[in-house]
Amino acid sequence: MKVLVTGGAGFIGGVTGRALQAAGHEIAVFDDFSTGHDWACQGMRVYRGDIRDRSALDKAFGEFLPDAAMHFAAKAVVPESVSNPGLYYDVNVVGSLRLLEAMRVAGCRKIVFSSSAAVYGTPAITPIDEESRQHPINPYGRTKKQFEEALEDARPADGLSYACLRYFNACGAAPEWGLGEVREHETHLVPLVIRAAATGKPFTIWGTDYETRDGTCVRDYVDVRDLADAHVLALERLRPGEGGAYNLGSGQGTTVREVVSSVGRVMGKKVPFVDGPRRAGDPASLVASCSKARRYLGWTPGRSLDDSIRAVAEFLRSRGG
Ligand code: UFG
Repeated sequence: MKVLVTGGAGFIGGVTGRALQAAGHEIAVFDDFSTGHDWACQGMRVYRGDIRDRSALDKAFGEFLPDAAMHFAAKAVVPESVSNPGLYYDVNVVGSLRLLEAMRVAGCRKIVFSSSAAVYGTPAITPIDEESRQHPINPYGRTKKQFEEALEDARPADGLSYACLRYFNACGAAPEWGLGEVREHETHLVPLVIRAAATGKPFTIWGTDYETRDGTCVRDYVDVRDLADAHVLALERLRPGEGGAYNLGSGQGTTVREVVSSVGRVMGKKVPFVDGPRRAGDPASLVASCSKARRYLGWTPGRSLDDSIRAVAEFLRSRGG
């Protein structure tokens, strides 16, 4: 298939673009490079543009004539969504609706959308399945939920087929493709712990008094290469007029202290840290039930947290970090 990958210069979009190519698909990247990197899409056909810009989208659809879109482009930092919600609604909702309209006009009827566990908010029951109550607790989660709803409305009206993939905590890297997480201001746990091990400078554990087995938050860390595999499967299994949402996690809950121990063990280094207060908006525990993705997509996340840590360490070494 020919696939237009919005946000294909970013972390998950970049790895998925390579996985699509490896599976025999032809891709073009659409990215504004606000957080993406040129090196992430080297040798690929690239359209530089903002998803809010209909003329840039129309050019890409008109020239490349994709059969499907994979839509990663988004603002995705939860605290920033709280301090600047307008930007998040503008990019994640208005921009995504422009993409949908450009698809409709171009006759492109398939989309795989990067959604998030943030659509659930604080779960009543763990593990979380796709039928769990959706009550996002921040603007980021609300923007993802709103575009999921727009897709479901467009499905019968426009003859669209879609898969919404709700990621839990993406981590890891794809050093074999020279790809990994590089952000100007990193806030995610796994890269921060690895950096602390490498530099000897401590990171802060946000909250040690949660009702969990060691007092720190439990999250479901899923490897980016497993996520990329799920995207390829979701695209290839999409039937006309079909729509669905799938949780993508490992199904395993890991505490912050357990991440610290894993990084220490895998890297053979002591990880310096300090205990800090809770971070606003952090639920105690978020763990996915992934049985729907296993059943309908035939997806099995095969990489462990140790595999992800090894991949990040190798990626950072290859960049001289
Ligand atoms: N944490 C620390 N210290 C840090 C950074 C994080 O203790 O320096 C803790 C957090 O408090 C949290 C855990 O590590 O308990 C994971 O935090 P991340 O910031 O890595 O990830 P989040 O769980 O907050 O959010 C991630 C994505 C969101 C997505 C969400 C869905 O970043 O986009 O998962 O589960 F919405």
